[in-house]
Amino acid sequence: METIEKMIEDFKKVLDDSTHTSPETLKHEMIQWLDETLSPRLKQVLEERETQSSSEQTVTPFVVSGKIDYEKVILKFGCTKIDESLIDRVERLTSRGAHVFLRRGFFYAHRDLDKILDCHERGDKFYLYTGRGPSSESLHLGHLIPFLFTKYLQEAFKVPLVIQITDDEKKIWKKLNKEKSKRLGRENVKDIIACGFDASNTFIFSSYATVGGKFYENVVEIADCVTVNKANSTFGFTGEASTAKMIFPSVQAAPSFSSSFPHKLFPDEKKNIPCLIPCAIDQDPYFRLTRDVAPRLDFIKPALIESKFFPALRGNNGKMSASDANSAIYINDSAKDIKRKINSAVTGGRDNLEDQKKYGAKLEEDIPFQYLSFFLEDDAELEHIKKEYGEGRMTTGDVKKRLVQVVTEIVERHRMARAAVTDEMVDAFMTPRPLFE
Ligand code: TYM
Repeated sequence: METIEKMIEDFKKVLDDSTHTSPETLKHEMIQWLDETLSPRLKQVLEERETQSSSEQTVTPFVVSGKIDYEKVILKFGCTKIDESLIDRVERLTSRGAHVFLRRGFFYAHRDLDKILDCHERGDKFYLYTGRGPSSESLHLGHLIPFLFTKYLQEAFKVPLVIQITDDEKKIWKKLNKEKSKRLGRENVKDIIACGFDASNTFIFSSYATVGGKFYENVVEIADCVTVNKANSTFGFTGEASTAKMIFPSVQAAPSFSSSFPHKLFPDEKKNIPCLIPCAIDQDPYFRLTRDVAPRLDFIKPALIESKFFPALRGNNGKMSASDANSAIYINDSAKDIKRKINSAVTGGRDNLEDQKKYGAKLEEDIPFQYLSFFLEDDAELEHIKKEYGEGRMTTGDVKKRLVQVVTEIVERHRMARAAVTDEMVDAFMTPRPLFE
């Protein structure tokens, strides 16, 4: 504000000083003042604003921006950090090593995961629930994270899984026309099936096609517990939000309660079966609200296991954007696109080879290294790259080259698996049928 006031003062001064000059001279002085004084100052103010806003973090289901301090996010949301003892317990109960995403701290927060483990230890049933809002033809690598992790959980605990395709959400939020939203949903289902879920124990459903019957009864029960004030404070809605936006959180909440599935999906429709939801931390507000409502409806609060974000190619500030194809690698990208995108990623390498050798790369700013930390399974090789690149004996080019190999292999494997997914398979996964069998 001070800067703007100062600029106005300066402007008045220019006019004052010019009272006795000719219009031509005044014009000339004004242009000079605009070019030399106002324009650089405005630029400076705008740059300062930009730095300020990019350092402020926003994490909601709709916007993820700024440099994210993940410790602060869990403090703000009120979830709990996953510690070593919880990971050990998961390993002990499943008699297998923890998934790299868990071992390396990408899935880092939870709500009531310990209760789910107690339930499993007692030999009681629980189920997994996750989802996707279909906003693009294909998933990007970030979307793949919760699905790959969910596949591991399903295999490790041998439990049923429900996957909600929120085609309604994208109609409401992205203004997609509903036919497109449904079509993208079905395309995304093929990508999801290609992750390798157990066909006999997984039910994938579209909101449009499913919300009705018992499911809708639960939607109404939930929505009836949520005041407009609560929705506004949880999601930042304002008076301009459509009423569809107000109802949607209850649609995403309903699959957390086993009684929402009317099709004998679970053995005893009336029984409360505990639910565990793997997702990135942006979805937490939906389930915070769901957990608030649960006791009032005599339902069990869903448990959560939540991840950090797989960063955008352009840097650590937030999630990748489906509307910006160059911010992310999509699993239908060609090998050439993958290489081009990785080569244009933000890195922490130094400007020239001499400095790189002397100071090493800033790994915390280096997107190719961070991508490797997610997808390079070999701990020893990752540690080697961390040391060599961080201490300057490896170049950014070397790291990018390795990443191109790793990502191309994952995408190629996925492409082949997806090519084998038929329409019949999609229909089979999307047919309501008893699970837990
Ligand atoms: P959507 O389609 O935005 O994202 C699908 C899943 O991917 C996670 N995710 C990411 N994870 C890591 N790094 C990233 N860069 C990244 N971007 C997205 C999301 O957290 C999500 O788990 N409203 C939901 C759909 C939904 C849902 C659910 C998700 C319905 N029910 C239950 C999780 C659990 C959505 O639009 O997700």
